[in-house]
Amino acid sequence: MYTQALNDKDPSPAEDTIEDPVLAERFQSRIDQELRIEANDWMPAAYRRTLQRQIAQHAHSEVIGMQPEGNWLTRAPTLKRKAILLAKIQDEAGHGLYLYSAAETLGISREEMESQLLTGKARYSSIFNYPTLNWADMGAIGWLVDGAAIMNQVPLCRCSYGPYARAMVRVCKEESFHQRQGYDIMTQMAKGTAAQKAMAQDALNRTWWPSIMMFGPHDSDSSHSEQSMAWKIKRFSNDDLRQKFINATVPQAEYLGLTIPDPDLKFNEETGNWESGPIDWDEFKQVLAGNGPCNHLRLSTRQRAVAEGEWVREAAAAHAAKQSARATNKEEAA
Ligand SMILES: [Fe+2]
Ligand SMILES: [Fe+2]
Repeated sequence: MYTQALNDKDPSPAEDTIEDPVLAERFQSRIDQELRIEANDWMPAAYRRTLQRQIAQHAHSEVIGMQPEGNWLTRAPTLKRKAILLAKIQDEAGHGLYLYSAAETLGISREEMESQLLTGKARYSSIFNYPTLNWADMGAIGWLVDGAAIMNQVPLCRCSYGPYARAMVRVCKEESFHQRQGYDIMTQMAKGTAAQKAMAQDALNRTWWPSIMMFGPHDSDSSHSEQSMAWKIKRFSNDDLRQKFINATVPQAEYLGLTIPDPDLKFNEETGNWESGPIDWDEFKQVLAGNGPCNHLRLSTRQRAVAEGEWVREAAAAHAAKQSARATNKEEAA
């Protein structure tokens, strides 16, 4: 009922609307009470825009993230590994679809999001602009990249925006399988021959820093964080999540007998935290600006896939139109 009252006033405020302070206050008070905001509820234009951007970026990351692993599908060492990797990549496609649908509930179309991605206007996670050079990279990605994704996404199951939060529940369950299969590959490689262990170490060396950069800039440099926390889109700061991830991962690397490529990494007895050395934010900025090792490849591969799939989409749309015309004819004849 409360929701209805909000809806009646202004279902979708224009960006330049000066917002009614009463509505804005009610909105914030619902959030403070841990009540979910749903698609038809009134929301501040900036909340809508923030979520449109965040969910679309998340969806793009899932879709682009299929490429580095797709690179190894034809070269997986066994049939079982190939089947697992294929299932994992298909999960990522599904995550992309859930998320595009969640973003659409905020009034942005799938076409618009896709065009933002293909023209380079929208971002996706910088980690996917790195190459996958050996089979152990499949392990390192599952262990570290999906592991970092879980740290980020579990709190999103409690995000104030209902459609996003609900999409995250299933996504997180699948991410746990991804992390587990990655760690399983790492375990087998690290406990294998000297050459296999060297491949595992090499994959860790290349993936470690980009994966801890996935949490985004330090809190002191993160411009949107405070507002996102007040809106309960975000529940933990970038640095807190990064710290949790490092604390969880260092003992896992120790178990594997691998070395985290950070000479300054040290355990702080007082705080119980593994403290990392300085992060090279210049590298992060370069990759975000489009100058990572694979930015062009990732985007051009996606552009080609969209162009090559055009006939499939046209055929599906023509088939759907034919089916619905048939159904209408039947109804009229009856
Ligand atoms: Fe995913
Ligand atoms: Fe995943």
